[in-house]
Amino acid sequence: MPITSSTHPPQSMLPHGLAGRLFGRLMEQFNRGAYARAVSLIDLPTEGSVLELGFGTGRLLEMLAVKSTDGFFAGIDASPLMVATARRRLDRRHVARDLRQGNAEYLPWPEDSFDAVAALHCFQFWADPVSALCEVQRVLRPGGTFLLILRRHGARDAERLPNPWSRTPHEIEDVFSLLKKAGFEARRELPDARNSPIIVAKV
Ligand SMILES: C[S@@+](CC[C@H](N)C(=O)[O-])C[C@H]1O[C@@H](n2cnc3c(N)ncnc32)[C@H](O)[C@@H]1O
Repeated sequence: MPITSSTHPPQSMLPHGLAGRLFGRLMEQFNRGAYARAVSLIDLPTEGSVLELGFGTGRLLEMLAVKSTDGFFAGIDASPLMVATARRRLDRRHVARDLRQGNAEYLPWPEDSFDAVAALHCFQFWADPVSALCEVQRVLRPGGTFLLILRRHGARDAERLPNPWSRTPHEIEDVFSLLKKAGFEARRELPDARNSPIIVAKV
């Protein structure tokens, strides 16, 4: 899924319109391995609360809701189409949810709200990653988990990414040291089947 040079945001950054629906379906197929890894790495109590940044079609939240039947599932995504898609999906399962349209850089929830925060393949779209990481730390409860799955991208695609850290060849190292500076205890997990780097951080 390459980043295009069109004046519209690429589908991967902001799924929209009819093509966005199709993109959502393809993305779900493409990311199956990443969702499975995420579910195995997020240890949620049955009544746990989780926040996903850039949740797309909501497939990961749905998988987590199957595991934590009395849990609470929140999320923020920039795309109105993805918000509507994910809301429908969770409502079919009667999941307690709070899915909003917005940006990862500003999280409209009080501090210490969540047991876990997840972000899959969307870090590269955050124009202000420092603010987003501070927000993650603010809304996570002490002992909570932040799961970050990065997306491998080629050098040409990287040039056009909004996140300045994702435009460099040392993205993972930079994320890692900032997490540590921000007080997270971070470790790397083996990458998923698509070679997406995985970072698990605890506060
Ligand atoms: C490549 S998709 C990944 C979706 C989902 N995490 C998955 O793995 O299936 C990236 C998602 O991030 C959302 N997004 C882009 N920029 C964002 C931002 N600044 N804050 C929150 N969501 C954002 C897009 O709307 C899109 O749904």
